[in-house]
Amino acid sequence: MLPMKEPSHNSPPVRSSKAFEANDFLRSLAKIWADRYSVTPELHEYDHIFGHLVARLSTGEEIKLFEALKHYFENGAANAQQVRELMTSLGLPRDARALEFASGYGRVTRHLKDLNLVACDIHPEAVSFCTEVLSVAAIPSASIPEHWKPGEKFDFIFAISLWSHLPDGLFQRWLSAVCAALKPGGYLMFSTHGAHAASVVPQLAEVISNGQQYGYLDGSDQKDLDPSIYGSTVVLPPYVIKAIYDATNARIVSFKPAGWWGLQDEWVVRVP
Ligand SMILES: C[S@@+](CC[C@H](N)C(=O)[O-])C[C@H]1O[C@@H](n2cnc3c(N)ncnc32)[C@H](O)[C@@H]1O
Repeated sequence: MLPMKEPSHNSPPVRSSKAFEANDFLRSLAKIWADRYSVTPELHEYDHIFGHLVARLSTGEEIKLFEALKHYFENGAANAQQVRELMTSLGLPRDARALEFASGYGRVTRHLKDLNLVACDIHPEAVSFCTEVLSVAAIPSASIPEHWKPGEKFDFIFAISLWSHLPDGLFQRWLSAVCAALKPGGYLMFSTHGAHAASVVPQLAEVISNGQQYGYLDGSDQKDLDPSIYGSTVVLPPYVIKAIYDATNARIVSFKPAGWWGLQDEWVVRVP
């Protein structure tokens, strides 16, 4: 293993901020979608994933909210099903101890209450929301990977759209910290922006030109996270493979280009 970079001790504290304004109209629309999937309708005003969905749409205000909610609940359910199917394909039973790393405010988590699941996020409010509103056990993450103490080990850890946002200085270190939280034989699934994402998102293509394997943009969906810990990352397979083998003792089980939303690549690794 290559020597790890020294952890930075001056990472900025996370100061969560409002992502949208909740009102009765939004709550009643959310209930329509949530009821369709029999899940909790509550949204947290600090949920930047939902705020990002609303901001991305360019229709009139009311249609915008309806479409954003449709996407949030519909896509959350589909992503949860993709997690279940992955577990089945890996031979993991439904009661395997699972950790959803970077769960946010439970866009996917709320659809996975049949799993033996713990959620985890860097936003303290997201951790409280998962525990108190979604009734899913949740633990805090950290800005510095070496400071993260999950307190137990897991059979399966999945992180939907986190490594697609980590800067170079944290990419390997979070792989190392998260793989260390796996039980022997445990699996990690994580997603990245790769060649396909760069072919459809011009800003990502721009930062990975000139034959580079890694590129990074300061901007992201999480407006309240400092770009020193979270931005928009694009990485090609040689970068990811080197990171996995340098930072962990895991082996690569599978790689699915554009396996998430037809956009982000899916990586599954297994520790010995
Ligand atoms: C793109 S969102 C994805 C959220 C969720 N996985 C989903 O698919 O809806 C990225 C999430 O990563 C979280 N995050 C960022 N840095 C993190 C860290 N160091 N540890 C844990 N979560 C982190 C953010 O708070 C945010 O909830």
